[in-house]
Amino acid sequence: MPPETERDGFAVDSSLIFAPEEFATPQFTLRGYRPGDGALVNEAVNRSYDHLQRFMIWAQPYTTPDDSERLVRRWHAKYLLDEDYAIGIFAPDGARLLGSTGFHRRNQPPAPAIAEIGMWIRVDEAGKGLGTAALRAMLAWGFSAWPWQRLYWRCDVENTASARTAEKAGMTFEGIVRWNLLDRDNIYHDARFYGVFRADWKPGH
Ligand SMILES: CC(C)(COP(=O)(O)OP(=O)(O)OC[C@H]1O[C@@H](n2cnc3c(N)ncnc32)[C@H](O)[C@@H]1OP(=O)(O)O)[C@@H](O)C(=O)NCCC(=O)NCCS
Repeated sequence: MPPETERDGFAVDSSLIFAPEEFATPQFTLRGYRPGDGALVNEAVNRSYDHLQRFMIWAQPYTTPDDSERLVRRWHAKYLLDEDYAIGIFAPDGARLLGSTGFHRRNQPPAPAIAEIGMWIRVDEAGKGLGTAALRAMLAWGFSAWPWQRLYWRCDVENTASARTAEKAGMTFEGIVRWNLLDRDNIYHDARFYGVFRADWKPGH
C-alpha cells in the first residue's frame, strides 16, 4: 500500500500524481471525462455496438443516457483519485466523441509507473487512421506530461486492426501471453503484447 500521512484530519496519499487533463492536436483533443460528457459517450457507444462487441466485452446493445452519465462521473472521480485514467478522444470543437482511450494502472503499485493503453474508435471514424494517430498522441503525452516509464498495449491475437495500430504507432511486439483475455462467454483468449519504455521512446515516430 502507498504511504499515507494525516493532514487536517484527512488521509493524504503521498504517491498521488497531479494527472494532466488535456492534450490537444489539430485532429482531436484527448482529455479526462467530466460530468456532462454522458450524452456524447452515449451517442458514440450506442451507434458503435456492432463494431465494438467482439473485442470490447463491456459493450451492450443499448445503454441509457443516465447510465452513460453515471459512468463518466465515475471515470472522473477515479481520474482525480489516481485510480484509473479514462480519456475521451473528442473532436476539436468538443461536439462529438470520436473514441475513447486511457492509461489503466490495472491495480499495479504506483512505482515504477506502468500503464496499459486501451482504445476504441467509433464505428464511423474507424479505419481512417484515427486509432494510430490517437495512440501516437497517447505515447507522446504519456512520456512528456505524465510520469509513465513503461506503456503497454495488449490485444486478442485475432484482433488484426488493434495489432496493426500498435505496430504503426511504433510499439514493440513483446510476445504472446496465453489465456490472457476473457471474452463475454468467459472463454480465455491469447493476447499479443506491445510495449514502449520511456528511455526508448522517440518523439515524432
Ligand atoms: C482497433 C481500433 C482502435 C483501431 O483504430 P482505427 O482508427 O480503426 O485504426 P487505423 O485506421 O489507424 O488503422 C490501423 C491499422 O488497422 C487496420 N485496420 C483497421 N480496421 C481494420 C479491420 N476492421 N480489419 C483489419 N484491419 C483493420 C488498418 O488497415 C491499419 O493497418 P494497415 O495500415 O496495415 O492497413 C479500432 O478499429 C476499434 O475501435 N476497434 C474495435 C475495438 C477494439 O478492438 N479496440 C482495441 C482493443 S485492444
